[in-house]
Amino acid sequence: MYKIAVLPGDGIGPEVVNEGLKVLQAAADVCGFKYETKDYDFGGERYLKTGEVLPDSALNEFRQFDAIYLGAIGHPDVEPGILERGILLKTRFELDQYINLRPIKLYPGVETPIKDKGPEHIDFVVVRENTEGMYAGLGGNFKVGTPDEVAVQEMICTRKGVERCIRYAFELCQARNKDNTLHLVDKANVLTYAFGLWRRVFAEVANEYKDIKAEYAFVDATCMWMVKNPEWFDVIVVENMFGDIITDLGAMIQGGMGVAASGNINPEGVSMFEPIHGSAPKYTGKNVINPLAAICAVQMMLDHLGEKQAAQKVEQAIASALGSGKMKDLSPRSGLKTSEIGDMIVELIRQ
Ligand code: IPM
Ligand code: MG
Repeated sequence: MYKIAVLPGDGIGPEVVNEGLKVLQAAADVCGFKYETKDYDFGGERYLKTGEVLPDSALNEFRQFDAIYLGAIGHPDVEPGILERGILLKTRFELDQYINLRPIKLYPGVETPIKDKGPEHIDFVVVRENTEGMYAGLGGNFKVGTPDEVAVQEMICTRKGVERCIRYAFELCQARNKDNTLHLVDKANVLTYAFGLWRRVFAEVANEYKDIKAEYAFVDATCMWMVKNPEWFDVIVVENMFGDIITDLGAMIQGGMGVAASGNINPEGVSMFEPIHGSAPKYTGKNVINPLAAICAVQMMLDHLGEKQAAQKVEQAIASALGSGKMKDLSPRSGLKTSEIGDMIVELIRQ
């Protein structure tokens, strides 16, 4: 019996999570596993009503679950940063979800903005470090509001944090067994202290994985190649901030926010799965947002829980729905309703 904490969050979060949960139920029925969920209403509304963002008591409850399923965080009446840092980043850090896993996969039937590239060219995974770097929040401001103001935002890279992330990426690359190529993406030509450490650790760990081709790429060049030659990539391992940037680019080349999901993974603890799109407040309650990204997050969650057959069934359903041509447009203007798309996936799983 899996215990899953559900945080629908803000805006369209609850609508897409609802479809994701329908899919989870269908997968459980077909594959014969059991689960229970508990809902948490953290997000902008609750914050505006009570001033509470995410209390430590809730975080401690999260530790008792097998996984967390998150919709979207962000409210137009709440200053940017409060909910992102207070809910999303706090959970990532406190539960030590040190990997942000981002599959970049173009499914047949989905349009990529990259000319002459198809599903055979776009299928890689970004392993983003998820608890350190500039996100650690070290730094400060001095002489605020004066012409002499100083701002410092430090990039923290620890030996332990870098090594565990790199090891995870080598293991994943081996398990994927696709091209057996792992790229370390960094800026070691300029930021020599931080990425000097990354490169030393990478080279060291690479010695233990002789079957994996260990490659290096600068982050700016990587942006270029992700567009020009995405087929060069199999697995990328990357520091937090750079990972944040290249994964949005990745989402675009795989067809947009409509199909992009991520896992915040603690391999030894509790992991959290989410669509990467935001809360899209202006579409709230309109039943027009495509829930596929949230459904992809369910697929990742099932895979992580070890329900490989269920994960495969969900992925096949996603692929065949997209491949059917009924879903050419993943945008809110597609004419398809959020709930219709959820039903379509459920039906394909139950077939
Ligand atoms: C992501 C998001 C978050 C991040 C934001 C919402 C804090 O962009 O998951 O990539 O920067 O990590
Ligand atoms: Mg991001």
